[in-house]
Amino acid sequence: MNLVLLGPPGAGKGTQAKLIEDTRKIVQLSTGEMLRAAVAAGSEIGQKAKLVMERGELVSDDIVNGIISDRIDEKDCQSGFILDGFPRTVAQAEALDKLLAGKGKRLDAVIEIRIDDDKLIERITGRFTCANCGEGYHDVFKRPKNDEICDKCGGTEFKRRADDTVETVRSRLKAYHAQTAPLISYYGDRGKLSTVDGLASIDGVAQQIEEVLTAIEVRD
Ligand code: AP5
Repeated sequence: MNLVLLGPPGAGKGTQAKLIEDTRKIVQLSTGEMLRAAVAAGSEIGQKAKLVMERGELVSDDIVNGIISDRIDEKDCQSGFILDGFPRTVAQAEALDKLLAGKGKRLDAVIEIRIDDDKLIERITGRFTCANCGEGYHDVFKRPKNDEICDKCGGTEFKRRADDTVETVRSRLKAYHAQTAPLISYYGDRGKLSTVDGLASIDGVAQQIEEVLTAIEVRD
């Protein structure tokens, strides 16, 4: 099964992608994570992306299209993938259609996690992850059982993203509404879109997504 998770920054795309990875045994492809890894490695792509990401703007379509095309060819994507943070512009969506057709693959569904902007600042500024395994947490909504130990791997170091400041979140939201929100009608017009209520709890959103995925499995 090949999926796209669509939604503004902080909607819960990464959180839900990790849950789908577990239930469906398909791999999460997060362009944000790939770009942050490129920045940390100081690669050519990372150097190009760093300042753009710090400003909360979008990295060029050419760069992300290339990263995704190469990544989809890898072995772990053969049984399916969840695109998290890609596509983010109509040009990226068109490029995705073309590259999937070229590889003999198709998109099974696009799931929009819908939530109002005013909830997102709190979600994003309270977010942190385990520095060892990447498990995601939140100061209010999802604390580790023991504040200093990761529930998943036992790691004791946590980190916060450089672009998770109030100011950068505002410009990420602006970029979402101007460049990414048009994808809702792009995929709606093609009969691919399902929408879930992102204001529900993490388990509540997961349950709604489970219903969408089950309906696809029954249909196919
Ligand atoms: P990216 O890493 O994709 O960031 P984003 O889209 O801004 O999304 P986030 O990761 O911030 O949010 P999320 O929806 O995954 O929320 P999460 O699950 O963590 O992109 C970063 C940057 O990279 C971009 O700004 C851009 O510069 C560049 N980039 C990436 N892809 C690109 C592309 N295709 N083209 C061009 N540029 C690109 O949840 C947030 C918090 O809320 C967590 O703490 C979580 O525990 C909590 N939470 C989640 N769900 C719930 C819930 N239901 N209730 C309560 N709390 C919840």
